[in-house]
Amino acid sequence: LPAPEEVAGLIAPLEALEGPLLPMLHRVQETYGYLPQTAHDPLCKAAGITRAELAGVISFYHDFKDAPQGRHVLRICRAEACQSMGGAGLAERLLAKLGLDWHGTTPDGRVTVEPVYCLGLCACAPAVMVDDTLVGRADEARVASALAEVRA
Ligand code: FES
Repeated sequence: LPAPEEVAGLIAPLEALEGPLLPMLHRVQETYGYLPQTAHDPLCKAAGITRAELAGVISFYHDFKDAPQGRHVLRICRAEACQSMGGAGLAERLLAKLGLDWHGTTPDGRVTVEPVYCLGLCACAPAVMVDDTLVGRADEARVASALAEVRA
């Protein structure tokens, strides 16, 4: 984990901004890949907010991660066209198979699962994305082979 002083140094140049919290959170996440616990105090201090307020902001924006992400990301479409083609059931089965909840990461750090709202592949619903690869007419077998392809 980075030392709090290191984080403080990283975000100090942003303190003069109006509404510095979001830029600070982005900078910390870009640097470490997530928001480490040791960054919380320096962030609160620099932005002049409480720990509870910080926790609220982090949980409101799903783009901010409080744990390291997996080496691969499986994005499952939850928008309408995919839902109408069995996307919800597929998502449930994939999550159960990985033993994860939305935004979760496997304990071995292999895969993180994120919801996404339309991948532009509605004509081939249900759709998912494995890292940068789109998978249309997704089912468990196609998702498994897409994950195997990236060695996830
Ligand atoms: Fe799923 Fe458009 S709704 S790809």
